[in-house]
Amino acid sequence: MSHLAIITSLLLLFLLSSSVSSDSTEETFVRCLHVNSDKSFPFDASIYTQNNASFTTVLDSLAQNLRFCVPSAPKPSFIFRPTTESHVQAAVICAKKLNIHLRVRSGGHDYEGMSYVSELETPFIVLDLAKLRAINVNIKSNTAWIQAGATIGEVYYRIYQKSSVHGFPAGLCTSLGVGGHITGGAYGSMMRKFGLGADNVLDARIVDVNGRILDRKSMGEDLFWAIRGGGGGSFGILLWWKIKLVQVPPTVTVFTVPRTLQQGGTKLLHRWQEVAPFIDENLFIRVIIQPSNVGNTTKRTITTAYNAVYLGGARKLVEVMKKSFPELGLTAKDCQETSWIKSVMYIAGYPDSTPPEVLLQGKPTFKNYFKAKSDFVREPIPVAGLRGLWERMMQEESPLMIWNPYGGKMSSFSESDIPFPHRNGTLYKIQYVTLWQDEKENAGKHIDWLRNLYNYMGAYVSKSPREAYVNYRDLDLGMNTKSRTSFKQASNWGYRYFKGNFKRLVQIKTKVDPGNFFRHEQSIPPLPY
Ligand SMILES: Cc1cc2nc3c(=O)[nH]c(=O)nc-3n(C[C@H](O)[C@H](O)[C@H](O)COP(=O)(O)OP(=O)(O)OC[C@H]3O[C@@H](n4cnc5c(N)ncnc54)[C@H](O)[C@@H]3O)c2cc1C
Ligand SMILES: *[C@@H]1O[C@H](CO)[C@@H](O)[C@H](O)[C@H]1NC(C)=O
Ligand SMILES: *[C@@H]1O[C@H](CO)[C@@H](O)[C@H](O)[C@H]1NC(C)=O
Ligand SMILES: *[C@@H]1O[C@H](CO)[C@@H](O)[C@H](O)[C@H]1NC(C)=O
Repeated sequence: MSHLAIITSLLLLFLLSSSVSSDSTEETFVRCLHVNSDKSFPFDASIYTQNNASFTTVLDSLAQNLRFCVPSAPKPSFIFRPTTESHVQAAVICAKKLNIHLRVRSGGHDYEGMSYVSELETPFIVLDLAKLRAINVNIKSNTAWIQAGATIGEVYYRIYQKSSVHGFPAGLCTSLGVGGHITGGAYGSMMRKFGLGADNVLDARIVDVNGRILDRKSMGEDLFWAIRGGGGGSFGILLWWKIKLVQVPPTVTVFTVPRTLQQGGTKLLHRWQEVAPFIDENLFIRVIIQPSNVGNTTKRTITTAYNAVYLGGARKLVEVMKKSFPELGLTAKDCQETSWIKSVMYIAGYPDSTPPEVLLQGKPTFKNYFKAKSDFVREPIPVAGLRGLWERMMQEESPLMIWNPYGGKMSSFSESDIPFPHRNGTLYKIQYVTLWQDEKENAGKHIDWLRNLYNYMGAYVSKSPREAYVNYRDLDLGMNTKSRTSFKQASNWGYRYFKGNFKRLVQIKTKVDPGNFFRHEQSIPPLPY
């Protein structure tokens, strides 16, 4: 080898190694964004790397489950907060090109932290849509275009600002991000009258795996079907939903009536199972169930709180209750007449005096360490079953159950209208939660308690499959363990969340994202090539 050749190859080696060490993933990514989106946009100001002073604040700001905020949880290499649609397109193109694993986050409420933690693949980055939160309400056409990073509370507020007799039937917790929420179904206090949020979607705009923006027409009916209930993070990045507004009356009525076991709570709840799914569809009575003390003693009991929204006035409500559910003994004194927007705030737990503008803050109202699971009930649980449930509830420090009635409009959809399959024949859904506040708590102890409770409940709930709600993501049901997972492995959770729709979701995924770019621990897998 000549001297020149040696020098040239040394120089080349030097150049190569220096470019590898000085060129971080972030710099390469930014350069790619410039090429694929906006040549002069200051992307550095939208990117938070791990050594940025704001990294943790930004990462944790929208993380709802504190279990995934602990220092030992895997952290993204950086967070990118796009400010335009073309940034989102470029992020997909660049992450794919540079082979960077990407997670997308809207409201950050994922129960297993899937939008900001990857247990399986590192490094990864987070595309955080917090800056894409426009809402355009059009009362004349009864529609609104809402952007993925907006919270559902902001959507409710913007509708209320334009009309007191329009609303939208989605989630109860007002800090949910519409990007992740509606993609999994989205139920709330008007579900028995109007169905789910996903049942009331008219159009959408998404970024597909090739970085193209597609609307309903250009994506086609298969993909449009899949994104309305098939769960977030599998088919593309949702930018906008076009939603259909619904009519709400100027006066609605709310109440919360608690009953302990000493006050006949077991028999009453048994009766609720037979009544709540069949009662007037303007009435949604959920039950919040927690251990408590008997009076001011240390004796433990269970409190069942009947927490309701009625689309109408108090007088009519008392009549409905007298006729269909006299056992609760509801009187006018228990009822509070209010507006629809105030009912939204009531059920979300805001104190009565809070102004609706609080909904614009778009922040989670409370954060906990928690683990949750869900079940669907198709036959009333006998009294003996309820007693066994109370015993178990009283063994745990801070457990919570929410029983949520179905029926009404929910039963009028077929199981395959959208991927959300829990329809006619479902009496109600149970959500089980265990919460704790202290990082030093033994999380395993609480999670074990919840798993045991779930085993116990197996006898009383839906079977083959034992159904679960995809928006209450539960990795106990199984997860993808590789970037390519088998259909068989995914069907552990797939049939529970989607029943027969799972197969169609897999077919659509295979067509639109065969390389499995959009993936996480419970994303829909494509079939092998
Ligand atoms: C306190 C609390 C209350 C809740 N109350 C209700 C309720 O009343 N009704 C109900 O139906 N559900 C409820 N949920 C569940 C909630 O609907 C889901 O957690 C939902 O996925 C949250 O959406 P997000 O955008 O806030 O979450 P994220 O964590 O941002 O996203 C959830 C999933 O969707 C993906 N995703 C996020 N944005 C997009 C996007 N733009 N395009 C594609 N994929 C995306 C993420 O990658 C992740 O996999 C509640 C959850 C919590 C924590
Ligand atoms: C942190 O990131 C933000 C947004 O990218 C940027 O504006 C800021 O200058 C960074 N700060 C530091 C200390 O790196
Ligand atoms: C507990 O309540 C009873 C009546 O309900 C009352 O007589 C008693 O003083 C209370 N005890 C305490 C410690 O508050
Ligand atoms: C729901 O199912 C029941 C029987 O299982 C049936 O009688 C009823 O007509 C169904 N309702 C609708 C709306 O399909």
